[in-house]
Order: sequence, then structure tokens, then C-alpha cells
Amino acid sequence: MSGDWSADEIARLRAETPGCERVVHFNNAGASLPAAPVVEACVSHLRREAEIGGYEAQEEAQPRIDAVYASLARLIGGAGPDEIALLENATRAFDMAVYGLPLGPGDVILTSTAEYHSMFVTYLHLARRGVVVDVVPPDATGQIDVGALRKRIDGRVRLIALAHVPTNGGLVQPAEEVGRIAREAGAFFLLDATQSVGQMPLDVRRLGCHALAGTSRKYLRGPRGVGFLWVTREWMSRLEPPLMEGHAAEWVEPDRYVIRPDGKRFEVWEANYAARLGLGAAVEYALALGLPRIWARVRMLAEALRARLAALPGVTVRDLGDVRGGIVSFTVRNVEAARVKAAMRAASINVTISPARGTLLDMRARGLREVVRASVHYYNTEAELDRLTHAIARLTS
Ligand SMILES: Cc1ncc(COP(=O)(O)O)c(C=O)c1O
Repeated sequence: MSGDWSADEIARLRAETPGCERVVHFNNAGASLPAAPVVEACVSHLRREAEIGGYEAQEEAQPRIDAVYASLARLIGGAGPDEIALLENATRAFDMAVYGLPLGPGDVILTSTAEYHSMFVTYLHLARRGVVVDVVPPDATGQIDVGALRKRIDGRVRLIALAHVPTNGGLVQPAEEVGRIAREAGAFFLLDATQSVGQMPLDVRRLGCHALAGTSRKYLRGPRGVGFLWVTREWMSRLEPPLMEGHAAEWVEPDRYVIRPDGKRFEVWEANYAARLGLGAAVEYALALGLPRIWARVRMLAEALRARLAALPGVTVRDLGDVRGGIVSFTVRNVEAARVKAAMRAASINVTISPARGTLLDMRARGLREVVRASVHYYNTEAELDRLTHAIARLTS
């Protein structure tokens, strides 16, 4: 058992996770199995909406809805609740920051080879307006080459955007070093923490980022359809929300509106409050367990799985980086990823596929068409690692 996790505690957490009875879940980087208190937070709010009315249920829950912002602020370190916006997912959160920046022809975005397709398509969209997208190459370990990043800094760099953990593997980018460079350069640093939040401790002041986007359903174990954006107070007024409506701004005169000063300027009025409350419950659940402990166990399980898989003939573990987290990526010689996934599903084991298009630059550079992705969480067990390993071994024999 890693760190100070006891077998009893893991058993208790699994008993509190209804999905553990049915599946061996290694798709935590897709959407984790939520814990019972998270499900209860969502379902009880939906029930209340049915019982007393949607608006009335919202009013009743308002203190708990407000607390979600405070929970997220605590989760990411030294943030203020007024610096947080709740949105539908990480993509929209990220977009609100990127499109909120006043970027014009000749302005430069520096980014990595491991970006997620939704984010890279945004950069390409901005490139149609004359923004220059400059991709910093990886170093020998596969992480962003921070020396090369530093050399590319000049007065034209307006945005440094980085996926903290990519969708297709265990790589953890050296975000703190990138943050230091961004601060020195005075460039806006936007961290895509979609795959890292909930998996490891995050502290926005230490990371040195100016904005951070995250999602609920992945390592946070929250419900689907909700995400969040944090923007530091110093930059808040410099980011003009790309979409405007009556919650983000107050209509004060027939011909005039005033944008709100806090993070809610990036939100839209109508929202899924059940999902937001579920996210709040998930954040509190993670905080109660402790992010340093979660991180220690996730890394232990991931390394143990890598070792087991690497020992199988025909299996190649594909994870990059100096620091590696909970996403384990691999290929099986002569077996397509879809076949691996289907065979695992038949054995009640959830894994997924990362196709090249999700992280095109990285996958092309490595000549990979696809990888199988098995992402572990703290509630997984070594016995489950063995089940997956044996099931993969059967495919190769
Ligand atoms: C690295 C990374 N960034 C962003 C996203 C998008 O997150 P969401 O689907 O919540 O918008 C994903 C989704 O898998 C991702 O892996």
C-alpha cells in the first residue's frame, strides 16, 4: 500500500463508489466513477427542483452553490472564490480566457506539442486572424523544452498556453518552470489543468499561471457537463469576455452595460445547478482525502501498471516525461486499440483509445496512429491492475 493509505480505507472508498462493484474502471482520464456523496448532491438537487420548482430550489441551495466557488478556490491553492467562473466544461473555460485576450495580427501564442485538439483548433482559429502559433519542441524526456521556450520569448509573445497533462499519456509538463518564464516575460500563462486537477496538488501561485481551466468529470470524480475557469484578479479586467449576456454584465442604461468585476463575467446565467453542486461535493471529497496523498497513490498505481504491462511480450508503454502521472498509454503489437478496448469491455474492464487526432503533433512526431489508455485513480487496486494485465496478456498469447 502506498503512502499512508490502508487497505481498510481503500475498501471503504470503494464501497462508497457504486461503480466499483460492476466494473474495473481504468478510464479515469475520461470520466472517473463518482463517489456516492457526489451522486447524492446531484440527485437530491434534481429531486428538489421537481418538488418545489427549479428557481426555488436554486434559492434554497444558494449558500451551497456559493460554497462551490470557495471549494474550488481552496483546491487550486491561493485563489479567491471571486476569481472563479463555472462553465460547462474545460474547453469553454479555456476559450473564455483565450478569446478574452486582445490578440491581433503578429501576436504570438507559445504552446507545446502535447496540446489537446480542442485547444489547438482554437489557436488555429486565431491564426486565421493573423495570430502566430509557435510550437515549442519537447526535450529528450518528451516534456516541453523550457530552454527552447525561454529562447522564444520576445515582445510579441502574448500567451503561453500549456496542457499540464496531455490526454494521451502520463506526461506531466513542468508547469512551474513555464510559469517562471511567463512571469519574467510578462506574458499571460494559461494552464489547461483538465487532466491534472484532482490527480495532484495544484497551487496557482506556485504554478505561476494567470489562468487555469479544469473540468469536473475526470480526476475530480464529479459529474459531467461542468467545468471551471480561474483567472487571477490582476488580469480579470484585461480579459473581455468574448460573449456577453445579462449575468456577465449588468444592463444599466438603454444603450449601456457594465461587465461584472469578478470571475462570473465569464459565465452564462442558465446553468445545471445539480451538476455544480455535484462538482462542489467532489472537490470537498478530494480535499478531505488530501491531494498529496491522492497523487502519491495515483503515481504508485500507474508505475506499477507500467511495469506489469512493459513485462508483457508485444506490449510497449508509450508514456513520456520526467514526471509521470496516472495516465498509462500503451500499444499491443498486431492488435488494434479498438480490439483491445472491446476485449477489455467484454471482461468488464474499462480502458479507452487515444487516437492520433486528439494530440496530432505529438502522435505524428512519434509515428503513432493510436494508443490504448488505461488511467488509474486512487480507488483502483493492485488486484485490478493484475486483472487488466492478465486480460492484455491473453490478447498477446
Ligand atoms: C488535455 C485536455 N484538455 C482539455 C480537454 C477538454 O476538456 P472538456 O471535455 O472538459 O472540455 C481534455 C479532454 O479530454 C483534455 O484531455
